[in-house]
Amino acid sequence: MKKQTQMYYGADYNPEQWSKEVILEDMVLMKEAGVNYVSINIFGWVSIQPNETTFDFDFLDWLIDLLYKNDIMIDLANGTASPPAWLVHKYPDMMPMTVHGNRLVHGSRQHYCPTSDVYRQYAAALSSEVAKRYHDHPGIVMWHINNEYTCHIHECYCDRCRSRFQQWLKEKYQTIATLNSAWSTTFWSQSYGDWHEIYLPEEMPTFKNPAQQLDYARFISAMNLEIYQIEKAAIAAYSKEIPFMTNLMGLHKYVDGFKWATEMDVVSWNSYPNPFNEMPYPQFLANDLTRSLKKKPFLIMEQAPSAVNWRAVNGAKKAGQMRLWSYEAIAHGSDGIMFFQWRQSKGGAEKFHSAVVPHGEPKESRVFKESCQFGNELKKLQAVVGTTFIADAAIVFDWENWWALELDAKPRKLKYIHQLSRLYEALSGLNLTVDFVHPDEDISGYSFVIAPNLYSASSSFGKKIEEYVTRGGIFLTNFFSGIVNEHDQVYLGGYPGLFKDVLGLTVEEFYPLKDSMHGQISFDGQTFTTHLWEEVIHLDHATALAHFNNDHLPGVPAITSNQYGDGYAYYIGTELAPADLAIVLTKIIQDNDLHKATEEFIEGTTPVSVTCRKGKDYSLLFLLNHTDSTHQIVLKKKGYSILDETNVTELEVDAKNVQIIKFSHTSDHK
Ligand code: GLA
Ligand code: ZN
Repeated sequence: MKKQTQMYYGADYNPEQWSKEVILEDMVLMKEAGVNYVSINIFGWVSIQPNETTFDFDFLDWLIDLLYKNDIMIDLANGTASPPAWLVHKYPDMMPMTVHGNRLVHGSRQHYCPTSDVYRQYAAALSSEVAKRYHDHPGIVMWHINNEYTCHIHECYCDRCRSRFQQWLKEKYQTIATLNSAWSTTFWSQSYGDWHEIYLPEEMPTFKNPAQQLDYARFISAMNLEIYQIEKAAIAAYSKEIPFMTNLMGLHKYVDGFKWATEMDVVSWNSYPNPFNEMPYPQFLANDLTRSLKKKPFLIMEQAPSAVNWRAVNGAKKAGQMRLWSYEAIAHGSDGIMFFQWRQSKGGAEKFHSAVVPHGEPKESRVFKESCQFGNELKKLQAVVGTTFIADAAIVFDWENWWALELDAKPRKLKYIHQLSRLYEALSGLNLTVDFVHPDEDISGYSFVIAPNLYSASSSFGKKIEEYVTRGGIFLTNFFSGIVNEHDQVYLGGYPGLFKDVLGLTVEEFYPLKDSMHGQISFDGQTFTTHLWEEVIHLDHATALAHFNNDHLPGVPAITSNQYGDGYAYYIGTELAPADLAIVLTKIIQDNDLHKATEEFIEGTTPVSVTCRKGKDYSLLFLLNHTDSTHQIVLKKKGYSILDETNVTELEVDAKNVQIIKFSHTSDHK
């Protein structure tokens, strides 16, 4: 398998839109910007297959050779992201259908039904042709399958999807009785006698069966994964040495990343934080989540050099913002930074999306100049490639829980990513680094495991947590966790059924709050404001660390701790502001003597963000200053600043700036 040896830096490159003259100019500009990697042919279908019987690779042959001659590595897409008009015209039935029964038409992109055999066959045929022609070209370092699966099409209600859903359910449940039981169909007289009676969860008079909705979400992710697998298999018939990936979307609801990642050699994601947001925690945590899918370095496959074109107001990235946020990804395990896109389109829907080469003169462009500065700086980061991110704790993340938690008819609307983002903000402030783990993953290597709002989880996960805490693990969960199984059926006997024993408590009743309502809790002599949720907690064996302090829940426990075997299980029965949550987390960390990997390198605490990646015989400390003032860092041992190219024992990290310090495990500091 071809191995990555340098930081990748580059962009989506769509030269189908440009003349050869412009493309030759691009080669010069790419060199200037330090570009060594581009993704091509993502939207190339109609260029290489202008009609059903013609494949025309002249342009792509020329382009691939040109990039190779210019030392630019190629991420070659199979080109299936936007089916050509001739195909749609011939098979209109391949198009997705909305919930209202409208067939979508050609004229945009990603227009295919996730179960269409026509799309699958033609996509596989195109993939074969591309692989046959280019699999042994030395310039190709990556296969880029399709593009952002389910970005636009995350449901389809055509007849074919309905019968495929029935078949998928039959494979899953084997008997209709098992399905009836899993879907709780005795409720509202929903029982089925035959698979053919089952609909997709389309328009219905009122609340839909939640288990049916959950299976539909699983089905959509699975059908798209099948497409990926078909495309990949068509390429793999010719190509063994080139890694496979598709560009994921981080916190994207419709693709179960943990399942998909097993089919990929490298994981990557497209990161589009809003520049108006000073600290875009959801995107920051998506870096950790994406790395965690394989627990290996990942790639930022796309980001905007400045503004996007698809928000209501498309804020531009300020000077330095692109660089700092790129380093945020690198500090959390990314081995490459790519942009969407290289050259700003002249026409089409994305002409106002920023690009490295703008509509105006590149030499006059701040964005181009910053891209050049950053790209050339990345050449110093050779030592970063392939190193392992060191996490202090694990956060349990499950796409299926995301789907289940956000179905309707709950005590209150809760948003999984909002909750995770508040937790992540608190942890970031403490410089406690995290991996995300799937509930089925081994957690025994982590000394601290947090399962935020894990509403839905399997009974085997409950057992795993009991064993983990018995053996000395520290576990933290919060309100509305451990409530239902994977079919959205409640664990009876008092909430949270799954974690009742390990937490040593019972929740009798939920007291959700309106947005404008807030209560208070007292914790260690401090008063915190509650948000969204309160509840009636009864202690079984647990100890209260905080109590609700309001009229309807006076003196009711709000935060608890429970010794269970050799470990402790903590519970927070409300939503807290990140700063308050950080105080609770600090107590848990101190009481249990939990350590951070970075304590080996720096003294005390700092507002600078600190992370660590380890190589074979060295460690790299990433110091990112997201604040507006300079901060002093004192190192515990001598290191080498990769960006400044000097040895250091103490240093200043300027506002919005970054330092990367290398500590050799041998004596030579370089
Ligand atoms: C996505 C797509 C790109 C482009 C960008 C614009 O990430 O993959 O083709 O449309 O969005 O932000
Ligand atoms: Zn369909």
